[in-house]
Amino acid sequence: MMEDNYFPMKDKNIVYFDNAATTFKPYRVIKKIMDYYNDYNANSHRGDYDISFKVDDEIDNTRNLVKEFINAKYKEEIIFTRNTTNSLNMIVFGYFLNNLNDGDEILLSSSEHASNILPWQILALKKNIKIIFVDSKNEKLEIDDLLSKITNKTKVISVAHITNVSGDKRDIKKICDIAHKKGILVVVDAAQSAPHIKIDVKDLDVDFLAFSAHKMCGPTGVGILYGKYNLLKKMVPFEFGGGMNLTYDENRLKLLDIPYRFEAGTLDLASIIGFSESIKYLNEIGISNIEKKEKELRKYLINELEKIPYIKIYNKDCKGSIVLINIDGILSGDLGLYLNTKGICVRSGKHCAKMGDNKEDTVRISLYFYNTFHEIDYLINVLKNKKEIEEFSK
Ligand code: ALA
Repeated sequence: MMEDNYFPMKDKNIVYFDNAATTFKPYRVIKKIMDYYNDYNANSHRGDYDISFKVDDEIDNTRNLVKEFINAKYKEEIIFTRNTTNSLNMIVFGYFLNNLNDGDEILLSSSEHASNILPWQILALKKNIKIIFVDSKNEKLEIDDLLSKITNKTKVISVAHITNVSGDKRDIKKICDIAHKKGILVVVDAAQSAPHIKIDVKDLDVDFLAFSAHKMCGPTGVGILYGKYNLLKKMVPFEFGGGMNLTYDENRLKLLDIPYRFEAGTLDLASIIGFSESIKYLNEIGISNIEKKEKELRKYLINELEKIPYIKIYNKDCKGSIVLINIDGILSGDLGLYLNTKGICVRSGKHCAKMGDNKEDTVRISLYFYNTFHEIDYLINVLKNKKEIEEFSK
């Protein structure tokens, strides 16, 4: 009998430092998914029988847990999507396509992940809308720079809470406060923050927020779209089909209320159900303990890296659980592959963010609370093999 909080992937003789890409899952999450397939494999909202009712209850349970996790006002404000990208696309094309007018401006930071830039660029092609990019300085976005770009045409600001490249943390509360005074809406990509720090959408007063289950010990295939109730009421579904309509005939379509109108077709039920265990698990550890442990790990990692003179560290001043490095004369891709030969998993390159000051490829070490000081020591020892790294990259 496997212990519930045990991570099977932690037993594979690898050191996993690519947690910004995805995280490992504790056995209780995997078991919850297996239980669904073994014991009550049915669709939701469709059957008139017990195992289908059970699926409805489980989906509702996850929705409630997510609502509590981010302190939303109503569970109807929580929409299940496929991932953060899907959530952001729904926000852009479901809400803003219909609520922006010619001449309006959108403020983005140029260090955003592609998912928070490309949908807006496509929107700008469809409408006569201008995107204003704000560059970061030394991997950090200066909030005052962002706010200084606001004009009387600005209608929306869309930024990551914590960026996936440098781990730059933005003061969302301040952005919302100033934006709202000027009638501007704020969209937040929380893919890299929800797993690591407390998100309180009421306190932040954010209008829309998106994140993914798989970056927080949950299954792949589940994203969350949070929107304020009154805004979701004005949002138009992005996809149409079963499970989202009340009635229809040749001429008319009557939609179900939120959130169901945004959840057409069969959802990834097994993963949504599995996600409930990830949230319970993170709640049991406590998100503030997660944040504290990651701070300690990051501080230790940076301290140890600084002792190796040929390692360049890019983002010491950022606050997320990410450390970006390079070795002069070694391609980051080569360093990543070298680390792989030693059983260390990192990501190298531009990390899906190709604008702004992210011009150089880097090796990204991204931590999660289950990483250990011992794993960091191992990485540091491997990085000390400069000659071997040089030989490998020839
Ligand atoms: N967005 C993920 C990353 O940064 C995939 O690696």
